[in-house]
Amino acid sequence: MQKNYGIKFVSFASALPSLCIKNTDLQKLYDTSDEWIYTRTGIKERRIVSANESGLTLSVSAANEVIKKSNVKPEDIDLIIVATATPDKLYPTMSCMLQGKIGAKNAVCFDLSAACSGFVYGIVTASQFIYNGQFKNVLVVGVDVHSRFLDWSERTVSILFGDGAGAVLMTSCLAGDDQLLGYSLHSGADVNLDLELDNSNVMYSEFKKPKCPNFVKMNGKAIYQFAVRVVPEVINELLDKINHNVNQIDYLVLHQANQRIIDSVSEKMKFNKSKVISNIEHVGNTSAASIPIAISEAIQENKIKFPCKMLLVGFGAGLTWGAVALHLR
Ligand code: UT7
Repeated sequence: MQKNYGIKFVSFASALPSLCIKNTDLQKLYDTSDEWIYTRTGIKERRIVSANESGLTLSVSAANEVIKKSNVKPEDIDLIIVATATPDKLYPTMSCMLQGKIGAKNAVCFDLSAACSGFVYGIVTASQFIYNGQFKNVLVVGVDVHSRFLDWSERTVSILFGDGAGAVLMTSCLAGDDQLLGYSLHSGADVNLDLELDNSNVMYSEFKKPKCPNFVKMNGKAIYQFAVRVVPEVINELLDKINHNVNQIDYLVLHQANQRIIDSVSEKMKFNKSKVISNIEHVGNTSAASIPIAISEAIQENKIKFPCKMLLVGFGAGLTWGAVALHLR
């Protein structure tokens, strides 16, 4: 596409709820063990919202932090995209509610639904508006609160997820200074419904019945196999597009779904372990928030040295998957 401007990734930030649920806490809910969960997923603990917290409060914390780290005033933000599959309300959108809370009164706002690929889709969507000169300052937030949609009496799905939010502020710069090297997005109908959060049972004829909560349903094995197949494919596709090889990439940030998926992909792609960012052990799978939380924490902990080239790869329900390559300076 015609690029009239470049994109600068100014700052990243994240926010987690205060309540920490360890694997040993889950042992009190059903027949499981810290050892089983840790060896199968790499997860030790996850954060879960309490009554005074929500996707919105987490988004506000992450957004305020990202704004504080940048030189951009809330009123100078032109566009807010919130990627989420678990909005607090079906409407108003999370992005409009966030706009009000952070004082970004001039921003256009919309939510984007691409499940765990949402943050990658969000960056690519934001980039189109910056490249064509429509908007200068864009806030992209990935947030999910899956704890409200999990069957906590069932052990195969609820062990995986945690709640959280992550954000990035993207601004326009000279086309020659573009920090977005390229991207690749994909979608494919999930014919076997291997990963779904169904809302279609809430209907007029049922309205007198007690409210039936909707829970995430997942065929873990199928999703695992999908991930270890498509993630290397999309990485290779993007590397070809931007004319790079694995050795030219400094950091790999995969959606934090399962440490075994992260290990399998990095081994297959021959990414040295030191290049692979992982924080799943203490946050679990935070869905659309997982990539920005992982980046923000790695920057905070000085695990990322600048300048650097970084691949971000998301995959999830839809099915959706995609990768972006950044050159952060
Ligand atoms: O962002 C969303 C994307 N989602 C994912 O990426 C999920 C990808 N999939 C996975 O991470 C893995 O498939 C799981 C961690 C969900 C499951 O691991 P698995 O190695 O595929 O285990 P399994 O479902 O094949 O279960 C193996 C055994 C079964 O027992 P039997 O039939 O062999 O006797 C399960 O009943 O482990 C049992 N099991 C458990 N045992 C203790 C299943 N869940 C648990 C548990 N604790 N929590």
